[in-house]
Amino acid sequence: RPGAQQWVPEDPDLDRMREAVQGCRGCELWRAATQAVFGEGAPAARLMLVGEQPGDREDREGEPFVGPAGRVLAEALEAAGIDREDVYVTNAVKHFRFEERGKRRIHRRPDVGHITACRPWLEAEVAAVDPDVVVCLGATAARAVLGRVVKIGAERGTPLQSGGRTVVVTIHPSAVLRLRDSRERSEAVAGLTADLRFAAEAAR
Ligand code: URA
Ligand code: SF4
Repeated sequence: RPGAQQWVPEDPDLDRMREAVQGCRGCELWRAATQAVFGEGAPAARLMLVGEQPGDREDREGEPFVGPAGRVLAEALEAAGIDREDVYVTNAVKHFRFEERGKRRIHRRPDVGHITACRPWLEAEVAAVDPDVVVCLGATAARAVLGRVVKIGAERGTPLQSGGRTVVVTIHPSAVLRLRDSRERSEAVAGLTADLRFAAEAAR
């Protein structure tokens, strides 16, 4: 895995990056995926949200958080009083990693090698958008942004620092989808909402 660096354009222009990422061969994940999914949203957002990797729907549509996890995220953003148009949303890894089971494509977590390989894209996005606060949705995003293993439960709700920037970690929206009990689900959404609100306050 050579890593993405050689495919990242020199100048920090989001549109150019969004084009160039389709040619990235920084790791093997491009082979099975439909397309790379780059970040979307306000190019000068104060709040940047980082997920794990595109899911099945995102891989087909080419946009981040447009599937079931995206619905959870949209619900929490709305409850937190944050307009999705005002934020920039991206993923730690830009290609969908999955396993084929019959006709279904089952999500597989990216490993540390994929996170490391793809990190130049995330770094370039952070540099271009220059947000006040980066919100990590789940452990993969936190690992990518902070460069270390993060226990979400222990570190959510407090502002962290990375490269002179404020970082807030919270759960991944798809963690909500895995809960069976509806009360547990609404508690998880409330927790995600509170963390997003906290991040938005820190971005002021
Ligand atoms: N999960 C993610 O982490 N990102 C997406 O874009 C969709 C689902
Ligand atoms: Fe490049 Fe990232 Fe896709 Fe790997 S996952 S090919 S590093 S864009």
